[in-house]
Amino acid sequence: MNKINSKITDLLGIQYPIIQGGMAWVAEYHLAAAVSNAGGLGIIGAASAPADVVRTQIREAKKLTDKPFGVNVMLLNPNAAQVAQVVVEEGVKVVTTGAGSPEKYMELWKAAGIKVIPVVASVALAKRMERIGADAVIAEGMESGGHIGSLTTMCLVPQVVDAVSIPVIAAGGICDGRGLAASMMLGASAVQMGTRFIVAHESIVHDNYKEKVIAARDIDSEITGAGTGHPIRCLRNQMTREYVKMEQSGASFEELEYLTLGSLRKAVMEGDVINGSLMAGQIAGLVKKKQSSSEIIQEIMNQALNLLG
Ligand SMILES: Cc1cc2nc3c(=O)[nH]c(=O)nc-3n(C[C@H](O)[C@H](O)[C@H](O)COP(=O)(O)O)c2cc1C
Repeated sequence: MNKINSKITDLLGIQYPIIQGGMAWVAEYHLAAAVSNAGGLGIIGAASAPADVVRTQIREAKKLTDKPFGVNVMLLNPNAAQVAQVVVEEGVKVVTTGAGSPEKYMELWKAAGIKVIPVVASVALAKRMERIGADAVIAEGMESGGHIGSLTTMCLVPQVVDAVSIPVIAAGGICDGRGLAASMMLGASAVQMGTRFIVAHESIVHDNYKEKVIAARDIDSEITGAGTGHPIRCLRNQMTREYVKMEQSGASFEELEYLTLGSLRKAVMEGDVINGSLMAGQIAGLVKKKQSSSEIIQEIMNQALNLLG
């Protein structure tokens, strides 16, 4: 198949400009390795996992693929400093970061030759990341699943593209070749997708959760946590209703964060779609079937190449 060569495929040494987002609980080594084997970049989501769990995940991924893969370091994680060290020790090639600025780990990672790609939700943060030496940024719009900012992908991506000279990866609301082609038109060099990969065959997500994503309509996601300054997008269910109630009764950020992360585990591992947190983006309405990561990537590439002529 033809390729879309971009600054990101060159930078990361991957075949296709498609990155699977580091997702708490969801993005473990089976999915990451499958996406990398399919020519994209798979990412292990370290989320709030202890450093030794992340080390095991990396070692398992290496058994399944000899292609590059990444680790997403969630900077709010109390174990972030140890995880930052583990990615160096294990020779991980790419680190993406969420929930803040990775400034204090930059020297360590750059010395180890790691490509550092922070997720940003504003032009100001993108510029700051470029200044501290980021290799690229992921501009993520509020359409996406999980923790979100306030700008849409359509508005954020071209503004970030104009503001920085490092490559920009578009994320949020992208799940097919139209989304990839449109992102390239906005000046992005690749896309990151989360929601579509939830339903990949290699994703360990419980079938009940996958079915909810497949059944979701465009209007079925909801934002919880806007009041804490840490909004999260997930599919509407009993958990989101309880969350809103807790929020209104003045629960702390930690209690609410615990509720969502704990509930995400419940949804992913136990298939509890009532009390679990079904993090997913607005694009869930377009996700219609379970497929292998390789089929997903091939389908997107074919469609994008046709559109881009
Ligand atoms: C279940 C789920 C968990 C996520 N967890 C994380 C995370 O731990 N760290 C992070 O940087 N992004 C996280 N994200 C965001 C994804 O990496 C990705 O950027 C996003 O899903 C892209 O938007 P889309 O869902 O519209 O494809 C998560 C997304 C989902 C759906």
